Amino acid sequence: MGFNVLFLNKIATAHQFSCFFLPIPSHRIYYLRRLMKEIVVSGIRPTGFLHLGNYFGALRNYVRMQEAYNCYFFVADWHSLTTHLDTSGLQASVHRVLAENIACGLDPDKVALYVQSDVPEIAELYLYLNMLAYKGELEKTPTFKDKVRMQPDNVNAGLLTYPVLMAADILIHRAVKVPVGKDQEQHLEMARNFATRFNNRYGEVLPLPQAFNFGNELVKIMGLDGMGKMSKSENANATLYLADEDELIRKKIMKAKTDSGPTEPNSAKPDYIQNLFTLMQLVSVPAVVEKFETDFNNCSIRYGDMKKQLAEDMALFMKPIREKAQAIQNDKAYLSKIIRQGADKARASAAETLQLVRKAVGVNYV
Ligand code: TYM
Repeated sequence: MGFNVLFLNKIATAHQFSCFFLPIPSHRIYYLRRLMKEIVVSGIRPTGFLHLGNYFGALRNYVRMQEAYNCYFFVADWHSLTTHLDTSGLQASVHRVLAENIACGLDPDKVALYVQSDVPEIAELYLYLNMLAYKGELEKTPTFKDKVRMQPDNVNAGLLTYPVLMAADILIHRAVKVPVGKDQEQHLEMARNFATRFNNRYGEVLPLPQAFNFGNELVKIMGLDGMGKMSKSENANATLYLADEDELIRKKIMKAKTDSGPTEPNSAKPDYIQNLFTLMQLVSVPAVVEKFETDFNNCSIRYGDMKKQLAEDMALFMKPIREKAQAIQNDKAYLSKIIRQGADKARASAAETLQLVRKAVGVNYV
């Protein structure tokens, strides 16, 4: 792999300079450059409004990766069917997630931005991988156990094999990096296990993907009530949605859980306070964060002031995203174009992998 990249780099560089002398079509150079880039895949379920956890765990990384990597980002509509049987709002949700992806800075001309169900090759790979996934391990997956607790009347097979479909999403493009939040770490480990089993049984076809975050540690943004992770479908008052208006952002942040403050200098921060600092680091200038860090460390912090500052900085940060997303969501012709364009790019890549997979499995008969 290292050799291939080096070799392609040399060809591309040679092509670049030889362009002055030889008529080499620019699409060839573009294609070579794409081949040299590492492949990245990630997805978001259209199960509600996107929130700051999605932004800082996933979207922010997507935007930063789009130049240097060959990126495939998608809306995981099949995954949403495992929990959301009512599909009356699905189209609007899918459109909103696409619009929010673009509003956060994704450029659909630079990446493949698509809808999962537009790529039927994923379903075929899911089928092969299902033969390599075992009931016992799927039942032990923490997210499956959570879902069983939350929807005891609908423990469907799709829910059980959720990690297999997720592995298919990733492996269909032979991705090596997967920008996700901390909550997806276990699913990535399972994807590596399925890929390893496939390779051991049928021959080396699938690279092993890794969860990725710029700045190494995977991110987990907690709800403002300090009760578990910020989530699309639980406790709307403790969740900051990208679509929230300024006033609502202020109101939610001013209600965030705090306490009477530290009594010992340089104490450890409780997790709900650390979460406020994490959010502040994400949206405020470093001098502001430092000021409140110092106040915390010498026990003079006033959480009311900190929340007021955070609320203002957050409102400023979210406003352009909200407004852009709204405009895109209303432009149905543009969204249709993006969806078709994304599907074409994703299917071209998926078809290549599937050809290798079918050959390796032995299901090619002509
Ligand atoms: P989903 O839709 O729940 O979340 C989308 C992305 O947002 C991240 N995230 C968070 N990060 C930090 N703090 C939080 N509070 C928080 N909440 C959500 C998630 O980690 C995720 O990166 N199974 C996936 C969707 C999926 C997928 C895939 C992802 C389907 N196939 C293939 C990557 C690769 C999910 O439910 O994400």
